[in-house]
Amino acid sequence: MKPEIDKNKIVIFSGAGISAESGLQTFRDSDGLWNEHAVEDVATPEGWSADPKLVLNFYNERRIQAFQASPNAAHKAIAKLEEKFEVVVITQNIDDLHEKAGSTNVVHVHGQLKFARSSLDDRLLYPLEDKPIHIGDVCEKGSQLRPHVVWFGEQIHNYEIARDHIITASRVLVVGTSLSVFPAAGILKKARFHAEKIIVTLNLEKKPHGFKLLRGKATALVPSIINNWLNV
Ligand code: APR
Repeated sequence: MKPEIDKNKIVIFSGAGISAESGLQTFRDSDGLWNEHAVEDVATPEGWSADPKLVLNFYNERRIQAFQASPNAAHKAIAKLEEKFEVVVITQNIDDLHEKAGSTNVVHVHGQLKFARSSLDDRLLYPLEDKPIHIGDVCEKGSQLRPHVVWFGEQIHNYEIARDHIITASRVLVVGTSLSVFPAAGILKKARFHAEKIIVTLNLEKKPHGFKLLRGKATALVPSIINNWLNV
């Protein structure tokens, strides 16, 4: 038996595209990170064991850029939604621009740049802000610290939490994702038939069933969608 849809609940599902206009690179656009770095070298457990220094440098660079970036009009509009609705932001992003914009319920499914993690015990997290992780930085159990980021082939974080939120949402707004990485993208399949479902992005291979696709930039389209919802 599916739980009741909550008419006051809105779920946002975001990807790298929402942070593009804050100056952070996406992954699969022509100027994306995966055109400059080999995914297997910097975003897999195999890459980590082969060359941990290369992996640490990759995320150290991204951590500083994310730390210096500011939320844009799309992040801010999403935060504003909380004035009237229960809002849960499910994000694939490892930056903290949703939090910087004021969103108070952000579920990261691919980890967060601003924490280091013990490579021995997943429960041991260490706040970093913009600081780098170096070879030789160890956790309290003596194991090398790694980025608190989900690599390809690793279990995503908070899947059940994200799924349980989207099942009860009366509105789902997807922003800036190619929906090419599972199981994260599969969370959207749990959105309810009667929920209002919108995707804002520039390019999308395959639109999930039941979603209205609005092609355009996040800062151009998201604020007007949010204002419509706030003023109904
Ligand atoms: N406004 C809206 N959408 C945009 C903008 C913008 N200004 N710029 C780019 N986009 C869209 C692109 O059209 C694309 O659909 O954002 C999407 C970015 O897709 P990806 O680069 O694949 O990023 P994402 O979907 O977040 O990737 C998912 O892949 O590598 C892993 O862990 C990584 O979390 C990431 C996951």
